[in-house]
Amino acid sequence: MTQQTWDAVDAYFTDRLIGHDPELEAAAAAADRAGLPHIAVAPNQGKLLHLLALTQGARRILEVGTLGGYSAIWLARALPADGRLITLEIDPRHAEVARGNLARAGLDAVAEVRIGPAADTLAELVADGVEPFDLVFIDADKQSNPEYFARALELTRPGSLIVVDNVVRGGAVADAASTDPAVTATRRLHDLIAAEPRVSATSVQTVGTKGYDGFTLARVRT
Ligand code: SAH
Ligand code: DHB
Ligand code: MG
Repeated sequence: MTQQTWDAVDAYFTDRLIGHDPELEAAAAAADRAGLPHIAVAPNQGKLLHLLALTQGARRILEVGTLGGYSAIWLARALPADGRLITLEIDPRHAEVARGNLARAGLDAVAEVRIGPAADTLAELVADGVEPFDLVFIDADKQSNPEYFARALELTRPGSLIVVDNVVRGGAVADAASTDPAVTATRRLHDLIAAEPRVSATSVQTVGTKGYDGFTLARVRT
């Protein structure tokens, strides 16, 4: 099985189940024009996030790692009119593109991009005692995932869902001898979750236009 096959299957599923979506296509094009890296979630993955948010009945969503706001649009579209998405981004240039994309998609009233290192903005959210989030999507610098996950636990409630992107990275996660900081952090994330009585979690491998990768899903226990 090759990348070419995975691309063809993703194109087929996306054509059948998502189709033409002007706001998302405009968001991807604007990110491209601004020279942002092509690392947003794939359309069918974005829709998975959207469906998870709907299934959660999410009113408050937190995202760590905005880029051009592609996944943020999918997530924010699942919110009710009085819902809130807060998405955290370190790069002001990315945040600017994301704000434009969210506004074009008519989501600027529910979605807010906060600029800064996520470690700081997450600490601020905790210090402010904000209302718990129903869903957290962690998709920023991979070496900080253990810290982001710990913060997500402080910012959620029983029944909340925490999703972490990019936990497989071509299979490197199974290599206990790896010295790649993204890999060692992903392994520490799994150690942390394994020892964490407050969540029930699983990790799944995926293939598609994003290559061979995967997600961790952790539900805060009720
Ligand atoms: N979730 C996006 C993709 C995010 S890519 C989507 O699917 O559409 C990862 C993003 O995390 C990049 O924009 C990068 O600038 C940002 N990032 C990297 N390190 C960060 C940090 N320490 N704090 C906040 N954001 C960070
Ligand atoms: C990278 C980051 C991502 O969030 C992703 O989904 C794929 C790749 C990266 O930094 O290479
Ligand atoms: Mg990602």
